[in-house]
Amino acid sequence: MLARFATLAALPLLALAQSSEPVGNGTGVDENGKYEISSEGIRAHFIPYGASISNLFIKDVHGEERDVVLGFDNASYYEVDKQHPHLGGVPGRYANRIMNSTFEIDGEVFEVDANEHGGLNTLHGGKNGWDWRNWTVVAHTADSITFSLMDPDGEMGFPGDVISYVTYTLTPYDWHIYMSAFSLTHKTPIMLSSHTYWNLDGFQNPSTPLALNHTLHLPYSGQRIATDGILIPNGTVLPNQKHSINDFWSSPKQIGANFTNPDMLGNCGTNCTGYDTCYLVNRAQNGPYDWRAAPVATLSSPWSGIQVDVYTEQEAFQVYSCGGQNGTLTLKETQGLFNDTSRPRTVQQNGCVVMEVEDWIDAINQPEWQREKRNIYGPGDAPYVLEATYSFSLNQEAKNASCPGGY
Ligand SMILES: *[C@@H]1O[C@H](CO)[C@@H](O)[C@H](O)[C@H]1NC(C)=O
Ligand SMILES: *[C@@H]1O[C@H](CO)[C@@H](O)[C@H](O)[C@H]1NC(C)=O
Ligand SMILES: *[C@@H]1O[C@H](CO)[C@@H](O)[C@H](O)[C@H]1NC(C)=O
Ligand SMILES: *[C@@H]1O[C@H](CO)[C@@H](O)[C@H](O)[C@H]1NC(C)=O
Ligand SMILES: *[C@@H]1O[C@H](CO)[C@@H](O)[C@H](O)[C@H]1NC(C)=O
Ligand SMILES: *[C@@H]1O[C@H](CO)[C@@H](O)[C@H](O)[C@H]1NC(C)=O
Ligand SMILES: *[C@@H]1O[C@H](CO)[C@@H](O)[C@H](O)[C@H]1NC(C)=O
Ligand SMILES: *[C@@H]1O[C@H](CO)[C@@H](O)[C@H](O)[C@H]1NC(C)=O
Ligand SMILES: *[C@@H]1O[C@H](CO)[C@@H](O)[C@H](O)[C@H]1NC(C)=O
Ligand SMILES: *[C@@H]1O[C@H](CO)[C@@H](O)[C@H](O)[C@H]1NC(C)=O
Ligand SMILES: *[C@@H]1O[C@H](CO)[C@@H](O)[C@H](O)[C@H]1NC(C)=O
Repeated sequence: MLARFATLAALPLLALAQSSEPVGNGTGVDENGKYEISSEGIRAHFIPYGASISNLFIKDVHGEERDVVLGFDNASYYEVDKQHPHLGGVPGRYANRIMNSTFEIDGEVFEVDANEHGGLNTLHGGKNGWDWRNWTVVAHTADSITFSLMDPDGEMGFPGDVISYVTYTLTPYDWHIYMSAFSLTHKTPIMLSSHTYWNLDGFQNPSTPLALNHTLHLPYSGQRIATDGILIPNGTVLPNQKHSINDFWSSPKQIGANFTNPDMLGNCGTNCTGYDTCYLVNRAQNGPYDWRAAPVATLSSPWSGIQVDVYTEQEAFQVYSCGGQNGTLTLKETQGLFNDTSRPRTVQQNGCVVMEVEDWIDAINQPEWQREKRNIYGPGDAPYVLEATYSFSLNQEAKNASCPGGY
C-alpha cells in the first residue's frame, strides 16, 4: 500500500521538480510572502495559507490588468484578520456543511468540530480546516506551484491520516487546478474545492462596486440541492424551473436579475436574499464525456468584458452571491477606485460571487444519493481527485462596444 501511494504521489512532483527554475530572487517568494506564477495573458499570486490564490491579474477590454479575486495584501495578514471568509483557499478535509457535525462510516459514528451556528453544524472542515493552515510549497516554477498538507488522524475529529497535493498551473489565459488527497489509514470523508471570490471588474467599475451585473450561465444545472434555514441539505433535489429565480441553465442571466422577486427572500437560508446554493451538474445524457470540452459555468462582466469559463469533472457547483459581506472586509491595494473617496475601499454586500466546484454537499449524510465512492476514501482506494480549468477570454459584445470593429 505504502509503495503504491509513494509512486502515485511522486509522479507529478518529479515532473515538476525537473522543470523547476529559480523564480524572482531565488526564494520564489516576494516581500508580501506571495509566490507569483504567470503565462500569456494571466498572472497570479499564491500563498501557503490555505494553498490560497491571493491575486489573479487578467487584462480587460481596455487593456488594463484587473485583479479579479478577493484576498489580502500580504500572506501574514490572513492569520491576523478576525473574519476569515475562506479567501481563495482550499476548504478541507470536507468542504461545505456537515449536518449535526456527525457522520457514520461502517456503523461507526464520528463527531467533528461544530464551528458554525453556535455548534449546530460543521463548515469547511471545522475551525482548523485546511484553509486555516499553512501548506508546504513543494515545487514552484515560472508557471506552476504545488502545495502539500499532512492532515493527521483525529484532527477536527476526522478519522485517519490524509495527505494532499494541490497543483496550480497557468497556461495562456487559463488557470488549471489539480487537487489530490490520499487516505492512508482509515476510511474518511474527503471533499475539496477552490473557494475563490470573484469580482471580474476588480471593484473598479465606476458605476457599481457589486457583482450583481455579472452574467452567469450554468448550462447543466437544471436541479439544485434543497437546504434548510442554515443551509444544511435535507435530502431533496429540487427542479430549477425555467424562468424561476434559480434558473441559470435555460439561458445566461445577471446574478441580480431576480433580486426584487419575493421568492428570493430565504433562497440562501433564513432571511437571506440571494444565492448560496448547490447546483447539480447533469451531464449523464452526454455519455462518456470529456470535461475539458464544455464549461459547467460561465461568468462574465459587461463592464470589464472579462469572461471566465469553468471546466471541471466535479458534479456539483456552489454559487454564493456574497450576501454575508457587510463592508468590513478591506480591498487589496490592487483593487478598487484609487482616487475616488466617495466609495469605501471595502467589499459591499453582493460585491462578489463565489463559485465552488465540488461534489454533492453533505452526501456523507444522504446515503440514498449513493455517492459514497466520491465522498468516502480509505487506504486501498484510488485517491480523491479534483480537476478544474478556469479559462479567461474577453466577452465579444463588450469587446466590440469598447473597440468597434474589433482589434
Ligand atoms: C526575496 O526573498 C526573501 C526571503 O523570503 C524576502 O524576504 C524578500 O523580500 C525577497 N525580495 C524580493 C525583492 O522579493
Ligand atoms: C498586511 O496587509 C494588511 C491588510 O492590507 C495591512 O493592514 C498590514 O499592515 C500589512 N502588513 C504588512 C507587514 O505589510
Ligand atoms: C503562516 O504563514 C504566515 C505568512 O507566511 C506567517 O506569518 C505565519 O506565522 C505562519 N503561521 C504558522 C502557524 O506557521
Ligand atoms: C447529532 O449528534 C449527536 C452527537 O454529537 C448525536 O448524539 C445525535 O444523535 C445526532 N443527531 C442526529 C439527528 O443525527
Ligand atoms: C426539503 O426542503 C424543500 C424546500 O425547502 C422541500 O420542498 C422538501 O419537501 C424538503 N424535503 C424534506 C425531505 O423535508
Ligand atoms: C428572473 O430574471 C430573468 C431575466 O431577467 C427573467 O426572465 C425571469 O422572468 C425572472 N424570474 C423571476 C421569477 O423573477
Ligand atoms: C445592472 O443590473 C441592474 C439590475 O439588474 C440593471 O437595471 C442595470 O441596467 C444593469 N447595468 C448594466 C450596466 O448592465
Ligand atoms: C428573520 O427576520 C424576522 C423579521 O425581521 C425576524 O423576526 C427573525 O428573528 C429573523 N430570523 C433569523 C433567524 O434571523
Ligand atoms: C460584518 O461581518 C463580519 C463577518 O461575518 C462580522 O464579524 C461583523 O460583526 C459584521 N459587522 C457588522 C457591522 O455587521
Ligand atoms: C491617483 O492620484 C494621484 C495623484 O493625483 C496620481 O499620481 C495617481 O496616478 C492616481 N492613481 C490612479 C490609479 O489614477
Ligand atoms: C463583434 O465584432 C466582430 C468584428 O467586427 C463581428 O464579427 C462580431 O459579429 C461582433 N460580435 C458581437 C457579439 O457583436
